[in-house]
Amino acid sequence: MTHEELIRLDKKRLWHPFTQMRDWCSAEHDPLVIVSGKGATLTDSKGREYIDGNSSIWTNIHGHNHPVINAAIEGQLRKLAHSSFLGFTNELAILLADALVKATPAPLSRVFYSDDGSTAIECAIKMAIQYWQLTDNARRCEFVSFANAYHGDTLGAAALGGIATFHERFSRFGFTCHSVQSLAELEHLPAETAETLAAVCIEPLIQGAAGMQTWPQGMLRALREWCDRTGTLLICDEVMTGFGRTGTLFACEQEDVCPDFLAVAKGLTGGYMPLAATLTTERIYEAFLGEYDELKTFFYGHSYCGNPLGCAAALASLRLFDEEDTLSMLQPKIECLRAALADLQHKHLGNVSAVRQCGFIAGIDIVKDAATGEIFPWQDQTGARVCVAAREFGLLTRPVRDTIAVMLPLCATNDQIEQTVVAIDRALRILL
Ligand SMILES: Cc1ncc(COP(=O)(O)O)c(C=O)c1O
Repeated sequence: MTHEELIRLDKKRLWHPFTQMRDWCSAEHDPLVIVSGKGATLTDSKGREYIDGNSSIWTNIHGHNHPVINAAIEGQLRKLAHSSFLGFTNELAILLADALVKATPAPLSRVFYSDDGSTAIECAIKMAIQYWQLTDNARRCEFVSFANAYHGDTLGAAALGGIATFHERFSRFGFTCHSVQSLAELEHLPAETAETLAAVCIEPLIQGAAGMQTWPQGMLRALREWCDRTGTLLICDEVMTGFGRTGTLFACEQEDVCPDFLAVAKGLTGGYMPLAATLTTERIYEAFLGEYDELKTFFYGHSYCGNPLGCAAALASLRLFDEEDTLSMLQPKIECLRAALADLQHKHLGNVSAVRQCGFIAGIDIVKDAATGEIFPWQDQTGARVCVAAREFGLLTRPVRDTIAVMLPLCATNDQIEQTVVAIDRALRILL
């Protein structure tokens, strides 16, 4: 099919995520059709090459078309694409669970598979609720999450969300979730409220969809201590931060924190396949053990739990962290990104009000006037326009409102890091 034929059919048949489809389907909108990838780059149907500046929505880790991950998936594909995890098991799911437990902080020891970030969180929510029911504390059924949090779009995960545009219209369909701005606000919750809490959920070190907002240093550790004092369970949502993005394999390592539930997805398979995992401790797991007729079973699961192709990709991705020494190689790249972003901010003092960086994740705030703090009206979609303009300079990324996200695959070279920031610089020059 030609590019034009594909676009005509797309506009006739599809409904894209987080997209105003009237804009998408307008005659002047000519979407990119991505046809291939290599390393940190993607190529479209017209043969143009771009740096994958947001790691294909925060998923890709070691680069596209990586021979080791390709071979792992192909090898498994020749044996079996999928069989049920309900009542059966498979070798790669077993090996991956063992590898994940060894890679994550102790005492996480049990792995429950699902499909994506939202289901990993959904699973943690249900495990937490059922854990308290099974331990004679059913009144612990409410949750705490943070303002501007994003934990996914299924109804349960959305109930923990704190972004009005995405979550407000669905808020009355979920369970009770107390939204707090900060740890200080959490500490001021009345004791009777704290006693009703099943769990607190947090994106450790940095909130992604909030616009790459970093937490103060030490906050995660202090949150763990608050949870221990009040007997509340802690869910760390490492769907975005997991697998090296923050400079360590997991963000919670940086504050020496072990949550009661750790949710991972996106980068788990190196960004190749939809697979997620919720890790928890023996303490939680053991509460679900009993005679069948006690109905302590965790009655939860999805058709593709433990999918062997996803597990093959994930095992290969974890191996690559050792074989390619990914985390050591990343440290100078983090500094290269820091220097390039400082230079960008210096060049655009009037329109870049802040740059935030956590490891290899960065957010650049674009404003109308940095001196007065005046922002662009949200209807102008300035962040989106900057990203569209950056395409002309070989960069693909997406904003969070007017914050430009930079989240390159960990394999990006220093040249690609610099090209990324140059593309944003040029886009700002032609637009503002
Ligand atoms: C921190 C966090 N949690 C959960 C999710 C939901 O993941 P998914 O889109 O795979 O359902 C996201 C997605 O961006 C996320 O950033």
